[in-house]
Amino acid sequence: MNNQPILQMRGVTKTFGGIFALNEVSFDLFESDILGIIGPNGSGKTTLVNCITGFIKMTYGEVLFRGKNISRRPAYKIADMGIARTFQIMRPYFSLPAYKNLVIPLFSPRAKRTGGWRGGGKLGDRNAVSIDILEEMGFERESYVPYKMASNLPTGYLKRLELARCLALKPEIILCDEVFSGLSMSEIASMVPLIERLQIEGITLIMIEHRLRELFQVANRVLVLNFGEKLIEGTPGEVMADKKVKEAYFGSEKVEEVETYA
Ligand SMILES: Nc1ncnc2c1ncn2[C@@H]1O[C@H](COP(=O)(O)OP(=O)(O)OP(=O)(O)O)[C@@H](O)[C@H]1O
Ligand SMILES: [Mg+2]
Repeated sequence: MNNQPILQMRGVTKTFGGIFALNEVSFDLFESDILGIIGPNGSGKTTLVNCITGFIKMTYGEVLFRGKNISRRPAYKIADMGIARTFQIMRPYFSLPAYKNLVIPLFSPRAKRTGGWRGGGKLGDRNAVSIDILEEMGFERESYVPYKMASNLPTGYLKRLELARCLALKPEIILCDEVFSGLSMSEIASMVPLIERLQIEGITLIMIEHRLRELFQVANRVLVLNFGEKLIEGTPGEVMADKKVKEAYFGSEKVEEVETYA
């Protein structure tokens, strides 16, 4: 494994009015990491994803991708470099069938350059490639589900569609903002191998989750945010043994999950 971080956050700060949504957050992400980011509601997790991906401009601080400062680049350029994201509130093209949602990223300059998902060569028939990618993410190829309007897909498939849309870009990093939320235990159980598979394919992941038990099955490192600040970073075991972490969750509805894990 390469010892150079693929992504570095340096003192990333974002204020909204007088509120510090993120306050001097720094960490390194290494290739093939699955870094879990946890923290109570409003602790800055989605803001972090928005800052890395250029959806919002950070107030100050830096993000380096393979050593290059990408802090001031627009979202489309960051995506073009291979940093993809999912949305906590899913954002498919609701009026298109599921597979057509992937045709759009498959026409992106990056997908054209890289050959998309499996890479190597021309993309050819985007519709066929879309179905392949959806199948990789757990859509049943022979069923009607890939052809259903996104507006009619249940949450479980919408979450898979979010991941599939990222894959269509042939990303190096995927930032997953709560891909397990709103899913049943059995739906999460079927998503976990998909996440593991992405890692095996060489994709580096940041996973924001409230579902700690499931997150800790896949994450090798965990960072805890609280009131926009990094509270602790370590292995899942180290993080869960930390008193500050329980205190941070105390009073939030998520405390049960922390306690049942610990
Ligand atoms: N566009 C915005 N304008 C003003 N305040 C914002 C904006 N986006 C986020 N915030 C504030 O920044 C803080 C962090 O919000 P953020 O959405 O990053 O939290 P989160 O950790 O993702 O929470 P959750 O677990 O509920 O998804 C909150 O206080 C939130 O109200
Ligand atoms: Mg959020």
